[in-house]
Amino acid sequence: MKIGFIGLGNMATAMIGGIIQKGIFKPEEIIGSNRSEEGLQKAKTRFQIVTATTNVEIAKQAEIVVLSVKPQFYEAVISEIKGVVNANQIIISIAPGKTLQWLLNLFEKEMKIVRCMPNTPALVGEGCTGVCCNQFVNKSEIQEVLTILSGFGRASLVEEHMMDAVVGVSGSAPAYVFMFIEAMADEAVAAGMPRKQAYEFAAQTVLGSAKMVLETGRHPAELKDMVCSPGGTTIQAVRVLEERGFRSAVIEAMDACIEKSRSM
Ligand SMILES: NC(=O)c1ccc[n+]([C@@H]2O[C@H](COP(=O)([O-])OP(=O)(O)OC[C@H]3O[C@@H](n4cnc5c(N)ncnc54)[C@H](OP(=O)(O)O)[C@@H]3O)[C@@H](O)[C@H]2O)c1
Repeated sequence: MKIGFIGLGNMATAMIGGIIQKGIFKPEEIIGSNRSEEGLQKAKTRFQIVTATTNVEIAKQAEIVVLSVKPQFYEAVISEIKGVVNANQIIISIAPGKTLQWLLNLFEKEMKIVRCMPNTPALVGEGCTGVCCNQFVNKSEIQEVLTILSGFGRASLVEEHMMDAVVGVSGSAPAYVFMFIEAMADEAVAAGMPRKQAYEFAAQTVLGSAKMVLETGRHPAELKDMVCSPGGTTIQAVRVLEERGFRSAVIEAMDACIEKSRSM
């Protein structure tokens, strides 16, 4: 079984790194193509994968084909490969806004199509990926795809109409979390902490808090209340965050993000 990547940029290399590290595919079972020779050679050197000089070669050789180019190149890439792919292959799309039906229409024939939305923490094996499939992908193939996508973090099936929410809550969300970490560190610096240490403290706190949500299964509000001692420091921070509309800012920002995703 071979998996092929058309486009060997950030997301593809994050995925390849994860699936090799977890032993889901061996380097020799992975084949990739890329627009620039430089990108192609970089991926080959880093992962010892097989490389191809054309996208058509990937479509001919791989049972699973990941379209890992930017969304604006999808039409051109699909028109290049549609003549050589067959109904037994699985096509994985990672582009926001490109629906299963839109993708199927471009292939102009019955194809197994998986639409997914990963995020950049995949680069460190902690991605979060929403996945949906069209009617031609069977149950065992769905499991196979979920195993591959779990190579670089968590992967969960969602209804296709939830994909815009996935963009808001995970695809784009690392940006808001980085802004939060940056803001926390800036104030720690203002209070006298060296900058490098401030980023470590802020980032580790976000990591630890996220783990508490995932591992304890307790409601985030309950975990927040655990930190807020009566008459203490934390409740003062919470008071100011509420006064400045912290939650509302997050909700409105995500609403704008989800609306944009819907319009793409
Ligand atoms: N980055 C994110 O946070 C994120 C999150 C979720 C989903 N995605 C999606 O993942 C996809 C890839 O994003 P990315 O961040 O990995 O982009 P990227 O780093 O720019 O990688 C895209 C790669 O595709 C190559 N390429 C462009 N046109 C090509 C063609 N016609 N044939 C073969 N290769 C071609 C580029 O080659 P060159 O070496 O010539 O540039 C580049 O290496 C996008 O659809 C994006 O929306 C990204």
